[in-house]
Amino acid sequence: MDQSDVGTDLEKILLSEEDLGKKLDEMAAKIDEDYAGRDLLLVGVLKGAVMVMADLSRRLHHPITMDWMAVSSYGSGTKSSGVVRILKDLDSDLSGRNVLIVEDIIDSGLTLSWLVSNLRSRGPASVEIAAMLRKPDAAQTDVDVKYLGYDIPNEFVVGYGLDYAENYRNLPFVATLAPHVYSG
Ligand code: PRP
Repeated sequence: MDQSDVGTDLEKILLSEEDLGKKLDEMAAKIDEDYAGRDLLLVGVLKGAVMVMADLSRRLHHPITMDWMAVSSYGSGTKSSGVVRILKDLDSDLSGRNVLIVEDIIDSGLTLSWLVSNLRSRGPASVEIAAMLRKPDAAQTDVDVKYLGYDIPNEFVVGYGLDYAENYRNLPFVATLAPHVYSG
């Protein structure tokens, strides 16, 4: 899927496929270096993280295992509340494992903040975060991200796993959505 497939739905491309690929190369190189000689479990947070997980994991030389969680934030509309419900839990036992949570975006930070403390309570050796995008102006809590792609403005973005009403996840870049799409 590309820009030509979505008509006038997009306003501006913020990060091209090349921008994302370049950052993924850097993130993967650091992860390879940091986890050398250590076990590594990548935990993807459905559904947005599928693209980052697929592209980041394939760049790693380090052997990994992969697991997935699905969580849902209680609250109204698109806003996180920080109260999180597990829709699908991990299949893996985290005891003694080095866990790297893989996310598409940190918005308020409430989901990851909850997730980190939830996973830390399961006895892992370590829990760190890799996220492609972060909106510093939307932060409601501090999240310690070890591997970050890009800081972006606090605008409605889609593509590369990010959706609006479940659409646009398969755009290969990150773009802002044209207001006519979400204002009806
Ligand atoms: C997005 C994103 C994070 C979360 C970040 O997921 O993938 O999990 O929101 O928001 P926060 O920092 O404000 O907590 P979403 O709930 O939209 O689900 P999805 O991944 O299935 O699209």
